[in-house]
Amino acid sequence: MSVENRPFVEKYRPRHLDDIVNQEGIIKRLKQFIKDKSMPHLIFAGPAGTGKTTSALAMVRELYGRKMAVNRTYLELNASDARGIDVIRTYIKDFAKARPPIDIPFKILILDEADNMTAPAQQALRRTMEKYTRNCRMILICNYSNKIIPPIQSRCVVFRFSSLNNEDIKKRIKYIAQIESISPTNGGLNALVEVARGDCRRAINYLQSCGTISKKIDEELVFRVAGEVPPEKIKEILDAALKSQLQLSIKLLNDLINDYGLSGLNIIKNIHREIYDLEISEVLKIGLTKLLAEFEFRLSQGGTEVIQLQALLAKIVMLQDFE
Ligand SMILES: Nc1ncnc2c1ncn2[C@@H]1O[C@H](COP(=O)(O)OP(=O)(O)OP(=O)(O)O)[C@@H](O)[C@H]1O
Ligand SMILES: [Mg+2]
Repeated sequence: MSVENRPFVEKYRPRHLDDIVNQEGIIKRLKQFIKDKSMPHLIFAGPAGTGKTTSALAMVRELYGRKMAVNRTYLELNASDARGIDVIRTYIKDFAKARPPIDIPFKILILDEADNMTAPAQQALRRTMEKYTRNCRMILICNYSNKIIPPIQSRCVVFRFSSLNNEDIKKRIKYIAQIESISPTNGGLNALVEVARGDCRRAINYLQSCGTISKKIDEELVFRVAGEVPPEKIKEILDAALKSQLQLSIKLLNDLINDYGLSGLNIIKNIHREIYDLEISEVLKIGLTKLLAEFEFRLSQGGTEVIQLQALLAKIVMLQDFE
């Protein structure tokens, strides 16, 4: 793959700790480790697309610079590599056991998606971790630190990454868009941030997929590519149903399905996202939530989409009677 065709998330993965946004406290402490040329075993935990893998790789780069060499100074494994107990007992152990090159204080083993390791594999890791600490420090990356067995947790310092805030995602998107000569409108930018929900990778991926369709990215395009519906459209449908205009709400829903090519389940998820923003009573919100749960289940059991969605709207109309 040529450099130009690389996915944006790889192409624009920050190379230095300083370029990682939104995790100031963590970055500050990591930099101190680099300054001291010493670090404990680490766990990076947190939601997707918040900079965990990026930070681990940047650590390695800043520690070793030009001496960065796979297998000699660092090793990165992730869930797609074999990670059973055998790999831990052989491959990982061999790496951890071998002395680091003379001018390097210790090697680093990055275990990405460590929460997918089985408990016995983690148990095996625990021994290796302890026995060869002098030679090798580990960075375990996971979404949920509670999936790491307690004895490993207690041997590590845990860093918790938080979801990126909207402003930081927006800044990053603008930066990439500019270099790539893509121009999102203001609405497009806001939509990218909205569909990302704190996951910077998702925002960047949608920017790239929208960019291949059109250099000018507006709200409409983003929602379409993300398989989501602009919130106003869902609100219109709910509004109609809540005002007892069943026919109108069914028509709006059909238009939406034709326009966006969404599945019934997808529609229900979109509605679910909106109900808490609606200006309606708590009682109605509770009623709506229950209905959505019921119809999600019906669809999952193979109910016909059109019928189920119309029945859902009809039931929403009837909700008023219980007010
Ligand atoms: N804090 C951040 N600062 C700048 N860019 C970021 C940040 N977090 C994520 N990104 C962008 O998102 C992409 C994915 O980030 P990364 O691979 O570090 O996520 P992750 O936290 O490891 O997520 P996952 O749990 O899904 O593996 C990066 O290539 C980078 O472009
Ligand atoms: Mg990762």
